[in-house]
Amino acid sequence: MTRSTLLDRLPAVTPAVMRALAIAAVVAQAGIAVTGSIVRVTGSGLGCPTWPECFPGSLVPTPHPEVEPLTQWIEFGNRLLTGVVVLVAGACLLAALGTRPRRRRLTALALVQPLGVVAQAVIGGGVVLLGLVWWSVSVHLLVSMVLVWLAMQLVAAASDGAGPPRRLVPGAVRGLAATSTALLAAVLVAGSFVTAAGPHAGDAQTPRLQVAVQSAAQVHADLLFCYLGLLVGLGFALRAVAAPGRVLRRYAVLVGVVVAQGLLGGIQYALGIPEILVSLHVLGAALVTVAAAALWATLTERPALPAPTPAPAPALADRGA
Ligand code: HEM
Repeated sequence: MTRSTLLDRLPAVTPAVMRALAIAAVVAQAGIAVTGSIVRVTGSGLGCPTWPECFPGSLVPTPHPEVEPLTQWIEFGNRLLTGVVVLVAGACLLAALGTRPRRRRLTALALVQPLGVVAQAVIGGGVVLLGLVWWSVSVHLLVSMVLVWLAMQLVAAASDGAGPPRRLVPGAVRGLAATSTALLAAVLVAGSFVTAAGPHAGDAQTPRLQVAVQSAAQVHADLLFCYLGLLVGLGFALRAVAAPGRVLRRYAVLVGVVVAQGLLGGIQYALGIPEILVSLHVLGAALVTVAAAALWATLTERPALPAPTPAPAPALADRGA
């Protein structure tokens, strides 16, 4: 049996199911970044010292004289979520293959999810082998954010039609949005460097980024101000070109989330970086990424292909012939 006939045997998937799975991928990818940060800041990495069993002879946390239950459950919860991410990523790919008509962009975006999970497993293994060296932890977090971004593009693609893309704003405004996205990436990279230089980069022996945490935080905050400046400019540009209401609403959400995350960052810095706020800040970083990805996706519309026009009915004279 050929590959295409095998794929054609998959049950047809509705756009609503595809969209629900894509949203699940966004939640799972953002969630794993947050639970990963909880494992890191609480030092729970060895809460379950064996794999796949938590302790020899037990798949789940179990009373142990040396390892507290909370530490075990934090690490176990992170492992469970990893399983959810794998399942959701696989389901997204199957659903995209089952969508009729099959769309190349949707399938490519869905394929990225399982590939990204494999890449993260390899990177995660590398992080452990390299003794949690700071740049490997940064790469691990940043790849998570890229996967969150791409999962949001998958959400948008789930509702797209198979027609050609239609830009809803002029190229210059798209350029401004792309530049602001590049600046957001710089904010995320700088944020991971603040962590790498600070108290939450692992235990006392973990090799840290040799920069004063105050200087790293300053660069991180300065980049945020540049990002906010560009967002203000983008807001004026969207108004000037009378962008559709949906675009303006997503823009407003993005600005709100960025301001809230900036305030949270300032508060956590002023309070001496308490653990709980670090994990909330990672959640905030994922939400900013989601909001920015949603805005980007809404700048382009992909309508359904026009229905094929029916062939003209044969003339009466022809029928009689
Ligand atoms: C849109 C705004 C912001 C975004 C998207 C963002 C993103 C991030 C990210 C991704 C990290 C790395 C987290 C990790 O590796 O676990 C981070 C760390 C950090 N950020 Fe931000 N940040 C923002 C604003 C701010 C602001 C305004 C401050 C105030 C100075 C700040 C202070 C910090 C600090 C202190 C850390 C290190 C936390 C730790 O020790 O793990 N952030 N940020």
